[in-house]
Amino acid sequence: MTQTYRIALIPGDGIGPEVIDEAVRVLNRVAELDDRIAFEFTTFPWGCEYYLKHGEMMPEDGMETLKGFDAILLGAVGYPGVPDHISLRGLLLRIRHDFDEYVNLRPVKLLKGAPCPLKDAKVGDIDMIFIRENSEGEYAGSGAWLYPDTDQEVVIQNGVFSRKGCERIIRYAYELARKEKKSLTSVSKGNALNYSMVFWDQIFKEVGKDYPDVETYSLLVDAASMFMVKKPERFGVVVTSNLFGDILTDLGAAIAGGMGLAASANLNPEKKFPSMFEPIHGSAPDIAGKGIANPLASIWAASQLLDFLGYEEWGTKIVDAIEALLGDKASLTPDLGGTASTSDCGKALASLLK
Ligand code: NAD
Ligand code: IPM
Ligand code: MN
Repeated sequence: MTQTYRIALIPGDGIGPEVIDEAVRVLNRVAELDDRIAFEFTTFPWGCEYYLKHGEMMPEDGMETLKGFDAILLGAVGYPGVPDHISLRGLLLRIRHDFDEYVNLRPVKLLKGAPCPLKDAKVGDIDMIFIRENSEGEYAGSGAWLYPDTDQEVVIQNGVFSRKGCERIIRYAYELARKEKKSLTSVSKGNALNYSMVFWDQIFKEVGKDYPDVETYSLLVDAASMFMVKKPERFGVVVTSNLFGDILTDLGAAIAGGMGLAASANLNPEKKFPSMFEPIHGSAPDIAGKGIANPLASIWAASQLLDFLGYEEWGTKIVDAIEALLGDKASLTPDLGGTASTSDCGKALASLLK
């Protein structure tokens, strides 16, 4: 029996549409090869151009429309001409928050053939799964801008750490560490952030009582960033707050082949709302429109989408195909030392799937 999945595409800005085309190509290839799977894609032209025409990043009923889909595939949001805090809050962060996609799952895995700036690191040394809190924390959007343009001007940006929010993300990470038989490292900063991160550390310990079989570590974020470079093999599953996870996963991308290979799943594990899959990178205005953006991060995100739909064998096949492609420079984009275009790379990847 064929199951048809309704996928909402939000290609967005800059290189977003270029890389999403290739992710769709790969998903269509999977559907062609597997008669259990069919996709029905609907593209939404939301983003900065849409904002400049309509004064909003998506229509008023945009969130309602998205509710009807099984998943969302997003390219990138943000472009010069619209302030970033408007574009991102109006679309990407809004979807993550309002659809309660509280898990941001970001693999940091060095594939064979991917460039690594760490001179002693071997494949296998860099194999982590970041679980970034994705619904509150430092990105809750709570604060105030008082007395602007006076000499008493004050801005306040609050971090919001609820018991429910901390417990559920930490529990998700423990479950994953147990399932994957990996250690779990919590990254926080209780020595300076004396409310939020002390609370986080306490909850990490509390929830841990239910997982005596999971090997755990607790690191301060400054030391964690040092260890990611000096001793990446010490990390398995990592759980951390929204801001720390954002920053550390760019560092993760850098040690695992670059932004062109870093993927991200925004999950609502209860499936009450659609989950959203996207590359970690942004709209890359410096290379947009040139047809040279690396589509592999988006394609990896498409593999996460297949994992989420229950086709883990396809998720794995896609990541294996990315690894195979890395062995052959002919089909790689310039960021990985090749000369291929975005679509050459996507086509080559699709043709590797069997
Ligand atoms: P960026 O990720 O867009 O680019 C950083 C650097 O990495 C650039 O040199 C770019 O050319 C390179 N790069 C990124 N993706 C690449 C790819 N697939 N192939 C080859 N090279 C790639 O980050 P930025 O420049 O800080 O941000 C640009 C805009 O994107 C901003 O508006 C920012 O707010 C937004 N942004 C959006 C997202 C998102 O939608 N998830 C993520 C990060 C940044
Ligand atoms: C990411 C991005 C976003 C984030 C920005 C664009 C709001 O950097 O997905 O990593 O900080 O979450
Ligand atoms: Mn980021």
